[in-house]
Amino acid sequence: MDKSNTAAATQKIEFRRVTVPAEMDALCELDRKIFHDFPADLFIPEEWAEFESYWMIVDGRVVGCSAFIRDSDFDDEPRPGCLHIMSTGVLPEFRRRGFGMKQKRWQIEFAKQQDFQVIVTNTRESNVAMRELNLKLGFVIREVAPHFYYEPDEPAIVMELQL
Ligand SMILES: CC(C)(COP(=O)(O)OP(=O)(O)OC[C@H]1O[C@@H](n2cnc3c(N)ncnc32)[C@H](O)[C@@H]1OP(=O)(O)O)[C@@H](O)C(=O)NCCC(=O)NCCS
Repeated sequence: MDKSNTAAATQKIEFRRVTVPAEMDALCELDRKIFHDFPADLFIPEEWAEFESYWMIVDGRVVGCSAFIRDSDFDDEPRPGCLHIMSTGVLPEFRRRGFGMKQKRWQIEFAKQQDFQVIVTNTRESNVAMRELNLKLGFVIREVAPHFYYEPDEPAIVMELQL
């Protein structure tokens, strides 16, 4: 059975820009829940303030969040035309229901509509869920960046999608 189609028939999915600083506490709380396995990966408010973030809202409930930096490479070097996805996340209780796929499809549509030529994103080497999801959507592995993450030390898999 195609679970995404049956779910989509009854669900209203919205992506709404996070208002900072008004919603900063809620953003950090969501980040803690989504990345609870890797506390070292949590962003601090000063970092969130630099991002363009969007709630993923399903039937009125926040289920996840996306965050971007425009015209930036994965290592924060300026890169015109590149949308750097800083965060893709779905709350643990909503995972494996197709919301991650829908969030990523929305990110790609967003990047196209904003005239970006490429999307870059990076994830822990051990993050099979994110890697698989990106590969399914056509992202390719550009490079492996050693020691990118800490606690635990781990390489980043850098993935790109040409638009
Ligand atoms: C990665 C993440 C967003 C996926 O969200 P999700 O809603 O569970 O994903 P979906 O249900 O849409 O899954 C889509 C596909 O991704 C892959 N996938 C998702 N979770 C997976 C897992 N645990 N193991 C292997 N593949 C997985 C599968 O190919 C899946 O398709 P399938 O369900 O038909 O097998 C979610 O696991 C998450 O928020 N993780 C924590 C945050 C994070 O690590 N973000 C990435 C770094 S920025």
